[in-house]
Amino acid sequence: MIPKETIDEIFEAAKIEEVISDFVTLKKRGANLLGLCPFHNEKTPSFTVSPSKGIYKCFGCGEGGNSVSFLMDKEHYSYPEALKYLARKYNIEIVEQAMTEEQVERASEKDSLYIISKFAKDFFTNELWESEEGKTIGLNYFKERGYSEEIIKKFELGYSPKSKDALSKKSIKNQYSKESLLKSGLSIEIDKKALIDRFRERVIFPIHSFSGRILGFGGRALNPNAKAKYQNSPESLIYNKSKILYGIFFAKNAISKNNNCFIVEGYTDVISLYQKGVENVVSASGTALSIDQIKLISRFTNNISILFDGDSAGIKASFRSVDLILKEGMNVKVIPFPENEDPDSFAKQNTSEDLKTFLEKNAIDFITYKTKILNAESEEDPIKRVAIIKEIIRSIALIPDYLTRTEYCKVCSKLLDVKESVLLRDIDQERKRINLSENVQRIEKGKPPNAEKNLKRKKYEEEIIRILLNYGDKKITFDNDTVLVYDFIINELEADNITINNEPHNKIYSEIKRLSSLNKFNQSYFTSHRENAINKLSIDLLSNKHIISENWASRHKIYTSVESENLKKTAEKSILMLKAQHVEEEITMIQAKIKSNSAKHEDITLLNNLIKIKNKISNLVGRTGF
Ligand code: CTP
Ligand code: MN
Repeated sequence: MIPKETIDEIFEAAKIEEVISDFVTLKKRGANLLGLCPFHNEKTPSFTVSPSKGIYKCFGCGEGGNSVSFLMDKEHYSYPEALKYLARKYNIEIVEQAMTEEQVERASEKDSLYIISKFAKDFFTNELWESEEGKTIGLNYFKERGYSEEIIKKFELGYSPKSKDALSKKSIKNQYSKESLLKSGLSIEIDKKALIDRFRERVIFPIHSFSGRILGFGGRALNPNAKAKYQNSPESLIYNKSKILYGIFFAKNAISKNNNCFIVEGYTDVISLYQKGVENVVSASGTALSIDQIKLISRFTNNISILFDGDSAGIKASFRSVDLILKEGMNVKVIPFPENEDPDSFAKQNTSEDLKTFLEKNAIDFITYKTKILNAESEEDPIKRVAIIKEIIRSIALIPDYLTRTEYCKVCSKLLDVKESVLLRDIDQERKRINLSENVQRIEKGKPPNAEKNLKRKKYEEEIIRILLNYGDKKITFDNDTVLVYDFIINELEADNITINNEPHNKIYSEIKRLSSLNKFNQSYFTSHRENAINKLSIDLLSNKHIISENWASRHKIYTSVESENLKKTAEKSILMLKAQHVEEEITMIQAKIKSNSAKHEDITLLNNLIKIKNKISNLVGRTGF
C-alpha cells in the first residue's frame, strides 16, 4: 500500500499541465491551457487545463478531473497504477506500507491465483504452438475457423492436451501448490488423492481482466463426444463472472474512441469481429448482462449495441437485461442478424467494410425494436394490445432522462397508434408508482427515501454543494451578524433535519462539515480526493466558476461576480429550494401511506402542518423574487 504522505507528495509534485502534455498538445490561453479533448472527437479545442487549480475540464463533453483521474481515464490505469506512474515521472520514491496480517493473507491468496493462472495460460499457449498434438488439433482448428496467427496470439488462445493431468503435474513439478490449483479450478481432486485437469482436449480462451491479467479460462471441446461444448473456470477470489466482460481488455480503448460498445454472445463472436476491425466488442459469455458489467461499460461510453443471432431465442429473454441498461441511463440499440447467421459466421463471410456497414445500417433503437416485435404478435387482439402497451410503458418509464423519454413516446405513439399525450401521462404515472413503492419499502425499513431517482432533489442538493465548495469559507452578513457560508448552510439544514441523500453529494457534504469544524476547509482537498466520484463532481462544480470566468468572455466574469456579491441571496435561495423539495417529498410519502391505508393519526396532523409550511415557503419564494 502507498502511504498517505506519499500520495500527498505525489499530488503536490504533479503539475497537471505537464502530465497532460504527454498526451495532448496544449496551447496557452490566458491563465489556462487549451487543447483538443482526448475523450471525444472535436475539431475546435474545448479541453481546458487550469494549472492553478490542478484540474482539467472539457466544455465539449463534460469530462473533468485531476492528474490522477486523467491517467485513470485516458490510460485506464487503476488508482495505484496512476500514482506509481506519477511517482516515476517526478522521481518520488514509494516505500510501500506493510499490510496487516489479514491483508497479507488475502493478497497472497489472490496473488497466488494470478500467478497460477498466468502459468496455466503460458502452458496452454505453449501447447498450442509447440506440441505436435496442439499444432495438429488445436492450431488447425483455429485456422479452419479463419483465425489469423496474429489474432490467436493477441487473444493468447491456447490448447489443453488430451492427457488427464498434464497441467496439474507440470504445475506441481514447478512448485505450485495443490491448493492454488484447486482454488483456481484448473485442477479437480479425485478421491482426495490424485489431481486431474479441468480442461482436456479443448481449445482455450483465457479471460483477461480489465488491465490484462488472466482471471480464468473458457475451454471449447474438440472431441465430439465431450459432455459439454464449453467448460469454464469456476468463480474464485479473482474471477467473478458477473463483474467481467470477455474482451474488455482489448476493447476498452476502441469503446471510448467509437463511443459505442458492441455486445455479442460468445468468445468466438468477439474474436471474429475483432479480426475484422470491429474492436469495440465484448461478450457476457453466455449469461444475461449484469448491472456490474453495464457499469463497467459505462466507464467508456453511454451507448450499447446488442448483436443477436438470426434465430436467437434469446431476444425476448434479453428484454429484462436491457431494462437494466435503460435504467442506468444508457442508450441501447439492437442489431438482429439474418436467419441462421451469428456475428461470428457473418464476420467470416463478409469484408471488413461490409461488416461495418451492416452494423451501422441495421442498428435499431431498443424501444422501437421491442415495440415492433411485440406489436407483430398482437394480431389485433385488444387484450394483448393493452398488455403490450403497458409493457412498453414500463420500459420507457425506466429511462432517467425526460427528453429521451419524450422522444421515445413520439416514436411509439406512431407504432402503437396511441396518442403521445396518453403515453406520456401513463409513463409519468408509472414513474411515480415505481418511486413510491420503492420509497414506501425504504421507509418501512427505516431508510431515507430514495433520492437517487429524484432528479429535482438531486439538482437542489447539487446547488447546495456547489455553493459550499465555491464559497464555503466566505463571509455573509445578516443585520449586524457575520457568518461563514458553510456555517450558515449547515446550521439551516440541521435545524430542519434535512440530509443530503444523493451519492456522492452526501460524502462531500459530511466532509465539508468535518473540515469546517476544524477550520480546515479547502477546495483542493476535494479536487484531489481519492474517490473519483468525489473529485469529478467537485471539479465539475468548481470549474463552472473558475475555469469559465478565467477563460471565457467577460460576461461570465460579470455573472460570477454578481453571484459572489449576492452570496447571501444565493445561499438562502439554495436552502429554501431544498427545503421546499423536502417538504414536498414528505407530503407525497404521507399521501402514499393514506392510499395504502397505513397512515396513523399523527400522520394526518403532520400532513396539515407540512401543507402550511409548503405555502409559507412558496409565499417567501414569490415575495423575494427568487
Ligand atoms: N457458453 C458457456 N458455457 C456453455 C455454453 C456457452 O460459457 N456451456 C458461452 C460461451 O462464451 C460461448 C457463448 O456462451 O461462446 C455462446 O455459446 P454458443 O453459441 O454455443 O458458442 P459459440 O461461441 O457460438 O461457439 P461455436 O461457434 O464454437 O459453436
Ligand atoms: Mn458460433
